[in-house]
Amino acid sequence: MARLALVPKPEPVEARPGEPGWLTSLRVGEAELWARVRAHGDHRREHLSERATYILAETVNWLSDLPPHSIHAIVTDPPYGLIEYDDKNHKKLRAGRGGVWRIPPSFDGAKRQPLPRFTVLSSEEIRALHGFFSAVAFGMLRALVPGGHVFIASNPLLSSMTFHALQGAGFEKRGEIIRLVQTLRGGDKPKGAEEEFADVSVMPRSCWEPWGIFRKPFAGTIAENLRTWGTGGLRRTSTEEPLKDVIHCSPTRGAEKKIAPHPSLKPQRFLRQIVRAALPLGIGIIYDPFAGSGSTLAAAEAVGCCSVGTDRDPQYFGMARSAFPQLAVFPVRERDER
Ligand SMILES: C[S@@+](CC[C@H](N)C(=O)[O-])C[C@H]1O[C@@H](n2cnc3c(N)ncnc32)[C@H](O)[C@@H]1O
Repeated sequence: MARLALVPKPEPVEARPGEPGWLTSLRVGEAELWARVRAHGDHRREHLSERATYILAETVNWLSDLPPHSIHAIVTDPPYGLIEYDDKNHKKLRAGRGGVWRIPPSFDGAKRQPLPRFTVLSSEEIRALHGFFSAVAFGMLRALVPGGHVFIASNPLLSSMTFHALQGAGFEKRGEIIRLVQTLRGGDKPKGAEEEFADVSVMPRSCWEPWGIFRKPFAGTIAENLRTWGTGGLRRTSTEEPLKDVIHCSPTRGAEKKIAPHPSLKPQRFLRQIVRAALPLGIGIIYDPFAGSGSTLAAAEAVGCCSVGTDRDPQYFGMARSAFPQLAVFPVRERDER
């Protein structure tokens, strides 16, 4: 049952000296909207902090009756190929029996975590993936305010399908963030004939991860949209430096994985940069439709904004409860260790 009693009343928002009226209106609107969004739907939920709520729900279901113009930005790492988080494969992963999840070949004696193999998707499964992301995209488009951005992770094999679904729903593509990260995907020699074809690999070793950037269309100028909705642009890294579309960020390290042992955990160092950039004025609500361990919510807490997440898996819901406070204060290095 939804624990509505725990939803705090919005704080009265005072105008700050010298602040233009439109900025005060945005902050008042944010407080009122936040109280409504975190209470939305009759699902089990956990208020992880005053500014973060995790809802145990199917994404499309929760989004379907969320009133339009409820969310200011979406930052998410969805199931790239869908099948890796379907009941059959997810159960196999938890039982240590593989399915689509495979341990990458070991060459240095280190223990490897299973990674999903996306090369095995049939054309029917790829069509289903497009259908699923179209349904999610229509829900996201409705829920966002005009000019709201979506940052959505994928991989080089499947991103064209996922990104096409968002464009088909009406989003404007605004570029991609290339996360430079060395994974253990790809680069293998032909199976069973490694010595015979020692100079051949079946596909490149993956060294990057695409994050599509999309925006809900809006009327008028960016400046007008920023004043009305607080959205339309991206927050700069500093006054001198815009957000850049290549970010070096090594794989999630052991200490972070110990706090949140989710098989697809994204690192705080990366998520905090994206979450911060997604709200140009630092005002508004971030939504993660596939919240997993709650890492996006923790990143939002760390940069000081409100966030709501949905995930349908009760184990990850439980994981987020214990991981959130630790991830939100997890120390990150300014520069990547490479
Ligand atoms: C790639 S993981 C996200 C991991 C997350 N970024 C983290 O750092 O913990 C995708 C998540 O989507 C969830 N999921 C898959 N299909 C879903 C659906 N239809 N509705 C809600 N959640 C779903 C899975 O349970 C999984 O936790």
